[in-house]
Amino acid sequence: MTVGTACGKIILFGEHAVVYGRPALAVPLSQLRARAFVESRAEQGIVIHARDLKRDIPVNDSTVDDALATITRLTLNKLGVTGNLEITVESDIPVASGLGSGAAISSAIVRALAAHFHQSLAASEISALVYETEKMYHGTPSGIDNTVIAYEQAIRFVRGQPITAFQIARPFTLVIANTGIASPTKITVGDVRRGWEQDKARYETIFDDIAEIVARAQDALARGENLLLGELMTRNQRALESLDVSSREIENLIDAGMRAGASGGKLSGGGRGGNVIFYVADERAEEVRRAVVEAGAANVILTRLF
Ligand code: PMV
Repeated sequence: MTVGTACGKIILFGEHAVVYGRPALAVPLSQLRARAFVESRAEQGIVIHARDLKRDIPVNDSTVDDALATITRLTLNKLGVTGNLEITVESDIPVASGLGSGAAISSAIVRALAAHFHQSLAASEISALVYETEKMYHGTPSGIDNTVIAYEQAIRFVRGQPITAFQIARPFTLVIANTGIASPTKITVGDVRRGWEQDKARYETIFDDIAEIVARAQDALARGENLLLGELMTRNQRALESLDVSSREIENLIDAGMRAGASGGKLSGGGRGGNVIFYVADERAEEVRRAVVEAGAANVILTRLF
């Protein structure tokens, strides 16, 4: 049996505007992973067992419009192979919560299949394959999820441009709190699109504001001026609120975190649910964790970024 794994991800700054050509900063979340296991089987055909979804997906039935079946077909095609296979997938990453679960599961399948057939694929090739399934989840994805997950490194992402790494001069703790509300990115991305179509000038101004926040954040991270990050997160959150992708639950968690001493916070990913992130001085991180749990967070992760 061969195994492939892939990390989750967090967008630090720039979601939504990134769909419209502005930059965004994202980091891998290596402690949360999706895993895929591939083995040959005696019976004909390929089946995927999606453990968490408690679902079996027949890959050979081309009428099955499923992202996991699609990534399997695309990968086999890319590798130039076929086989009778059993693929099992499982994931620690909550779905529809802005942590990249869809792209992570797809990347894990690509890696496990490549390993099974003793081939290796470059990160850019994995990213390109996974982008095809991101379109099924997202509608018009920027490509940030598949990129940060396939490369598993902190990236500054601009649609259609070569990716660049960004520097984190001084490590810090990020508090990630889950609202517990699953919110498909396709819906918020679609709503932003409709808003933009109705009032392009207003939306473009908001996207420009977000681009400036991203540039400042990148600069602050590179200089180790971490204190600025909180302020910039809060400013990015305001811009996301004006795009109407925030929600009462998100803002409740942010308020609770701020009262407990976070320097700033914002939603991360598609919004209206999913996760909220906080910049917190190390000595306040536990207090912020407690406060957001009390305020109703479904779960909280503390992760060190460096
Ligand atoms: O997958 P999510 O929920 O983290 O959202 C991705 C970020 C968006 O900018 C909202 C969409 C995109 O394709 O970039």
